[in-house]
Amino acid sequence: MRYLEISGKRPLRGELTIQGSKNAALPVLTACLLGDGPCVIENCPQIQDVEDTLAILRKLGCKTGRVGHTVSVDASGAEQFAIFGAEAERIRSSVLFLGALLGRMGEAALPYPGGCVIGSRPIDLHLKAMKKLGVRFFERPDTGTLREERGIYANAFHLHGACIQLPQPSVGATENTILAAVLADGETVIENAALEPETDELCRFLNLRGADIRRERGGRIRIIGKKKLEAVRYRLDADRIVAGSYLLAGAACGGTVHFRNLPAEQLAALLAILSRMGVAITEEGTLCAEGRLLAAGDVVTAPYPGFPTDLQSPLMAVLCVAQGVSQICETVFENRFRTAAELRKMGADITIEGSCARMKGTAALHGADVNAPDLRGGAALVAAALAAAGRSRIQGYDYIARGYEDICRDFQSLGADIRLTDDRDEKVW
Ligand code: EPZ
Repeated sequence: MRYLEISGKRPLRGELTIQGSKNAALPVLTACLLGDGPCVIENCPQIQDVEDTLAILRKLGCKTGRVGHTVSVDASGAEQFAIFGAEAERIRSSVLFLGALLGRMGEAALPYPGGCVIGSRPIDLHLKAMKKLGVRFFERPDTGTLREERGIYANAFHLHGACIQLPQPSVGATENTILAAVLADGETVIENAALEPETDELCRFLNLRGADIRRERGGRIRIIGKKKLEAVRYRLDADRIVAGSYLLAGAACGGTVHFRNLPAEQLAALLAILSRMGVAITEEGTLCAEGRLLAAGDVVTAPYPGFPTDLQSPLMAVLCVAQGVSQICETVFENRFRTAAELRKMGADITIEGSCARMKGTAALHGADVNAPDLRGGAALVAAALAAAGRSRIQGYDYIARGYEDICRDFQSLGADIRLTDDRDEKVW
């Protein structure tokens, strides 16, 4: 198994370019199914979730290619409608193939996306929305070779527009509905749609292809169904969660880091908290952190534009070395505090009460052997280890690699002592 070795308590100094957005890349690549011809996606991060999505597209009959950060997907040959297999079961976003396959061919068969450590992650809102668009679901197919696969079987002989009222602004349910509605017959309105920038990117990509999707006030999205979409070239924005993770690591370590492409306008909630903690970010995207951080007071995660749940663990790590007491309440997922136990191994003083975590900052954390519980928890442990005195070993690098293209390269370029090691070639320190 691959793990990270870090020797901490070094300030970070240098410049960094943030990778393309994982949570925009996944729905945009899936949306390449909605029409024929080669779509070219630029600034596409080289991460496991993207590779898994490309593997699913190839299973459906698409041709895919990659040169560096530019990926091409040509769905002209896609005639399959089932995506069972390791990749679809590994990534949560494979559920978006439901809307894309129904939009393309009126049929879909896919595994139930598993829950994960951060929560049960149901898909009831996705299924309710699809049914309103005319989709019918089956437990198992009555013919064909798929009968042995447990999962979601759906078809829609007439995919038509509808009014979808989401009880909560689910990112996935919003994106799945958009994918099914862009080629449906008639108009679809989504009330209380997700406001996340990644959902906007999906809409921009589809509109560039000839779709008609409009964001209206109050979280409403209106979609006028079209007959077909064209193949286009599209460039993904920077990943705001990777950027936020790195800003937090810089705040914890101290130093001066310039981000060449910081999506600051998408990180307003985080920047406001960093300002409370005594960390300045200049207009040009340079983080300046000197001296001991101040506590952040009370923080509550919320759907965009609120403080993002994906930065909750990295912020928790940093608040463990801030001066004073801070509290974070997690309102989006029901089990996203697993990183706390690992941070305690490094000397953190964290108390969990219900959906809130209370951090009493200590002057410094110390290095330890820890295990990444999930993707963003892994990034949190990297930030903590970089700020801690002494050496740390972080198991579970494969979680981190799902969303961070090369966290070692990035922090090494800022002067950190961090390296990736494999059990098979154990190094003696
Ligand atoms: C997306 O997940 C992101 N993933 C997550 O990022 C992110 O944490 C989340 O949005 C919230 O911002 C991708 O975009 C690939 P939701 P998603 O549907 O779509 C409940 C990361 O680290 N819900 O907005 O699954 C759900 O249980 C990942 O990059 C239902 O109850 O999130 C959760 O409590 C982690 N029924 C809440 O809504 C449903 O049918 C928000 O989920 C759907 C969701």
